Amino acid sequence: SFSSQAAKGGKKISSDLFGLFFEDINYSADGGLYAEMVQNRSFEYNPTEQKTWNPFSYWEYVAPGFSYGRINVETTAPIHPNNPHYVVLDVEHIGHEAKYTGISGVGIKNSGFEGMVVKANDKYDFSMFARQLGNEPVAFTICLQTLKGKILAQTTVSVAASDWKKYSATLIPSANCDTANLVILATNAGKVGLDLISLFPEKTFKNRPNGMRADLAQMLADMKPRFIRFPGGCLAHGDGLGNMYRWKNTIGPLETRKEQRNIWNYNQTAGLGYYEYFRFCEDIGAKPLPVLPAAVSCQNSGDTWRVGGTGQKALPMNEMQEYVQEVLDLIEWANGPVTSVWGAKRAAAGHPAPFNLQYIGIGNEDKITPEFEERFKMIFAAVKAKHPEVTVVGTVGPAPDGEDFTKGWKLADDLKVPIVDEHYYTSPEWFISHQNRYDSYKRNATEVYLGEYASWGNKLRNAIAEAAYMTSLERNGDVVRMASYAPLLAKKDFTQWKTDMIFFNNVKINPTPNYYVQKMFSANQGDYYFDKVILKDEKDQNLAASCVRDSKTGDIIVKMVNFGNAPKPMKINLGKFGSIASLAEQTVLSGEADAENTLDNPQKVSPVSSTVKVGKSFNYSAPAMSLTVVRIKTK
Ligand code: AHR
Repeated sequence: SFSSQAAKGGKKISSDLFGLFFEDINYSADGGLYAEMVQNRSFEYNPTEQKTWNPFSYWEYVAPGFSYGRINVETTAPIHPNNPHYVVLDVEHIGHEAKYTGISGVGIKNSGFEGMVVKANDKYDFSMFARQLGNEPVAFTICLQTLKGKILAQTTVSVAASDWKKYSATLIPSANCDTANLVILATNAGKVGLDLISLFPEKTFKNRPNGMRADLAQMLADMKPRFIRFPGGCLAHGDGLGNMYRWKNTIGPLETRKEQRNIWNYNQTAGLGYYEYFRFCEDIGAKPLPVLPAAVSCQNSGDTWRVGGTGQKALPMNEMQEYVQEVLDLIEWANGPVTSVWGAKRAAAGHPAPFNLQYIGIGNEDKITPEFEERFKMIFAAVKAKHPEVTVVGTVGPAPDGEDFTKGWKLADDLKVPIVDEHYYTSPEWFISHQNRYDSYKRNATEVYLGEYASWGNKLRNAIAEAAYMTSLERNGDVVRMASYAPLLAKKDFTQWKTDMIFFNNVKINPTPNYYVQKMFSANQGDYYFDKVILKDEKDQNLAASCVRDSKTGDIIVKMVNFGNAPKPMKINLGKFGSIASLAEQTVLSGEADAENTLDNPQKVSPVSSTVKVGKSFNYSAPAMSLTVVRIKTK
């Protein structure tokens, strides 16, 4: 049996080792994974340091057929105080049907995130909140148009209630278009308020309403990650106290969620909020790892530099009790019974069953200052006391070995924090020469979550250096509980971070070589580590290897890495395992060291799988610059 194999030298390692880190950076959420097609759907855009945005950005006033009227952005009696702005259309005259498009009316047009991608005969779910403000009901034509104005899909909606109400319709385009616009036209005189104007493909990932872009989400699901950390990164604590990500603002009906500028200087609708993150984790079998601010803002920067900034670096102590409760409430929201206050909110959103939250992150890369320590201690103590079943992940500052790292580790040791989050972005050579980093970490003490790491670049050589390092994470899987590459997603031409795992635009996806390395490790995890299985030149730092076994399937998984520029021999000895199948599945990622994928050539560097013959002992020639995974079934 497998347990007797474990006794023959297998070391128990983390079963949550490889997962994902999702941060709303690089337009990863709105305009990215979140499938909403309308940009600035709630008229809540504000100017940022870099953008002259306003509540009407990405919208255009239109009045085809010589119609006319007036338009205003107003804030009196909004749908919800969290969603203060809305548009008022005051329609005076409807002209004749315009020649080319055949439509007339007064309304607004949205250009989406650089256009909307629609497919012929697919269904698109339109909705808007509206309120009749004049004496007459107002009828609307809703359509999808090409850039030249050709109508691709059309439907009607009639607004006849003086209270805010949601109106829905389906649009079915007659042709494909990658740059469509959404047009909302009032077709009779009257006055009406409009807000939260939304368009979603019906085909989202797993067909979830308010769901995710199916192709991108599938790429993540294919990795079979054991966990997902969200929503950041620096986004979690924001660049000022008012900019912290407060989870309660991101659950519940969309029209009640609070939008804000994110630390990466664009807008976040929170449409992809905590409910959606948890649901996505569940959908792909990953454990949720929410990261909450430790009541300090990004690296204790405060917001002194911002116009109107308060100069505070940390939440005042007299607000801490309330904040600690906010953290505890998240655990109740995720795991509590439907009869609890917060569990009831989860149930109302459509998920009566608990989400089974096991981990909670407190803080991200914070400077370990007295303000931080004081607040972290309070939060940590409260979670430990009320929810000993939940594992807290602390943070050890921004550098791998800097001052905050040392202070953070000391704090973790003193408090016996179960896990701390280390981050490093550095050269591929660093990853090659630091493969022994965790060999000397204390066992039976605080464990490590390597929450962000990447070598600087998306060439094959970067990915292979990371692969070598990842074998050392497996070898140290008794002290490294989790690891996630960062950042995950990046919209081409909208990035704030240069090296990322998956690039995309509205139509195409470019998985980097780094993605394939992550996927090959993540989809081939084990929970027991075996040494002395792969024999290779131990003096050659460019060679790395690991062997794990997955106790659920019994599969033995061998990973072999060659960062050098010539093939190298390795010898695999499976003698310590029982009977093995003679055919195994082998996947190889290799190529030119400087090769990269692009949106137009996304498969230039990609793994090749085949079935190979294996025996109790066999030789392998690891190609230059390669990662090989061999998955062997046992009998
Ligand atoms: O991954 C990008 C950023 O890098 C994260 O937001 C932050 O935690 C780190 O500095």
